[in-house]
Amino acid sequence: MPTPLDPAAVRRRFPGLQRRAGDREAVFFDGPAGSQVPVTVADAMRDYLLHTNANHGGAFATSRATDAMVHAAREAVADFVGATEPEEVVFGANMTTLTFHLARALARTWRPGERIVVTDSDHDANIAPWVRAAATAGCEVQRIAVHANASLDLDDAERKIDRRTRLVAFGGASNLSGTIHPVARLCELARTQGALSFVDMVHWAPHLRLHADRLGCDFLVASAYKFFGPHLGVLWGRRALLEEIDADRVRPAPGHGAEKWQTGTANFEAIAGTLAAVDGIAQLGRERGAPADRRGALDAAFRRIERHERELCAALLRGLADLPGVRVVGLADPDRVHERCPTVSFTHASRRPAEIASALAAAGVHAWAGNSYAIALTTALGLEPDGVLRLGLLHYNTREEVDYVLAQLRRLVA
Ligand SMILES: Cc1ncc(COP(=O)(O)O)c(C=O)c1O
Repeated sequence: MPTPLDPAAVRRRFPGLQRRAGDREAVFFDGPAGSQVPVTVADAMRDYLLHTNANHGGAFATSRATDAMVHAAREAVADFVGATEPEEVVFGANMTTLTFHLARALARTWRPGERIVVTDSDHDANIAPWVRAAATAGCEVQRIAVHANASLDLDDAERKIDRRTRLVAFGGASNLSGTIHPVARLCELARTQGALSFVDMVHWAPHLRLHADRLGCDFLVASAYKFFGPHLGVLWGRRALLEEIDADRVRPAPGHGAEKWQTGTANFEAIAGTLAAVDGIAQLGRERGAPADRRGALDAAFRRIERHERELCAALLRGLADLPGVRVVGLADPDRVHERCPTVSFTHASRRPAEIASALAAAGVHAWAGNSYAIALTTALGLEPDGVLRLGLLHYNTREEVDYVLAQLRRLVA
């Protein structure tokens, strides 16, 4: 058993969490749309801007320091996503922009009659770029269906991923239902048919350890601002593919390695912040028994994060089950929290999600209503136009907050 997290010690690192709402601290259950940052992330960004700010690739001191920092950040992100080569890590504005960029590049290799497979479960940032790119290349798009409990229909995946398929794009976990998808199995299905796999790990990244190498995917994406970093996107891809695929770029820019995929001048301060964000998570694995290397520390950190989040998630699901009129979207069983992230969405028989979000906001609870851009899922489950009320927990949340939010909801629906 991993040692439990000390919520007070964790929370002290995040000044944003000290925000007041009336006579108590605000409750941040909006993590799936963006987490708070520890002070070390803001310090790293400030230090970079004040002391080593420069463009990269020059002979002078600040430029060399920038190159070294970017390399160190690539090493950190490689550790974080479970990859071996820092040169496989590309930074970009955000996941959406990186995905459009890669989709445009890959589409140049696709031919009419070939097939792209997406899912009905994903955030639209992992659907729209592929649908548009497929349209330009004259390819057909197939969508893997979801079951009524929001999990992916694997039989449908087996039917739709065939020899014509060039790419399968799916998420590691749903940002709406929290459901974890069978990533390794889907990658294997793609590989068996000679297709590439692209996995959106944006929702997974703050909750579960990533193992790009073991999952068998070809590309994965994450967003640092969901794992306690600044607003920056991260793409990991197999080195051979990143080298081989023709990327949009200006002529003097590097034609090899990760830099080939980074258009224009990078957001260096955000890259510095992302390095600090990964180190901040690793720190949670060093508090007792100190594993020597960052990868080991990240393994230990995520064991502690998972334990804490599963306890909170089970308590939240148990509490919601007692509220009249509430229907959880996806896995509602508190004994199955290991199959989901602690992101719990629900509808109510008579209160609209926007109404519940406003009532919670008035009580100092930050939570989202709507479809959270997972519009294919809310459409497939018949939840449009109102969507759901989403409670997104992170490791810095506490049992007291869960109980407080449940008490607010109880008052609202009583
Ligand atoms: C699962 C998922 N994928 C993709 C995105 C888009 O990420 P970005 O804002 O970095 O483009 C989000 C953002 O909410 C998300 O939750």
